[in-house]
Amino acid sequence: MALIHLSGVTKDYQLGETIVPALRGIDVSIHKGEFLSIIGPSGSGKTTLLNIIGCIDTASDGTVIIAGNNVTRLSDSERTSLRLYKIGFIFQTFNLIPVLDVIENIEFPLLLMNRESRDAIRRRAMDLAAAVGLHSHIHHRPAELSGGQRQRVAIARALVTNPDIILADEPTANLDSQTGATILELMKQLNTTEKTTFIFSTHDPEVLQYAQRIIKIKDGKVHDS
Ligand SMILES: Nc1ncnc2c1ncn2[C@@H]1O[C@H](COP(=O)(O)OP(=O)(O)O)[C@@H](O)[C@H]1O
Ligand SMILES: [Mg+2]
Repeated sequence: MALIHLSGVTKDYQLGETIVPALRGIDVSIHKGEFLSIIGPSGSGKTTLLNIIGCIDTASDGTVIIAGNNVTRLSDSERTSLRLYKIGFIFQTFNLIPVLDVIENIEFPLLLMNRESRDAIRRRAMDLAAAVGLHSHIHHRPAELSGGQRQRVAIARALVTNPDIILADEPTANLDSQTGATILELMKQLNTTEKTTFIFSTHDPEVLQYAQRIIKIKDGKVHDS
């Protein structure tokens, strides 16, 4: 069974008097371990789709099944819990907590889960900091880091809970192309070693060479994926 299954998913945004159809019937199945890219021009619905898969937003219609859970039937708190335990999110603008240092940012989701000792949490965060090449920067705050380093923190934070799925919304959009390539190599390496499913959106054709499968979206619909 697919790890992620969407059928007939639509999303309409209400903008004053008008309704903006962001997704117009998406049917997609994604399997465990895929390294998949969603590509489409600006405004095509990439962020909306990732937010729905990531349980940050809900579909207007259709069915969304994530790791065997029919998301449409879950309560808000069940959906929040699914997101915390199964999904890591990497945002275009990193979304780090400015007052926390690198290691504290990476630990944050584990502290929310509150199921391990502080020592165990620190050890796991240190392992991830090392895995993304930031072991010598653990006490820096986000403002003291380059864009590429911030994105590495965001990747480590997304991975720290060992989620089944990592979603990355244009993860290289705010990076120069060399740094972007390094970040994608790192994601690919983690996909191979940890078997984590990665889904990343982009509108940059150069980023596509890294993808194992590509889903093209345009005007809220899938085109020849
Ligand atoms: N919060 C919102 N309110 C109204 N319209 C929105 C909102 N978010 C996105 N949209 C619209 O939905 C469509 C898809 O947007 P989005 O998913 O952000 O596309 P992409 O990420 O591919 O650029 C666009 O027409 C956008 O203007
Ligand atoms: Mg977007």
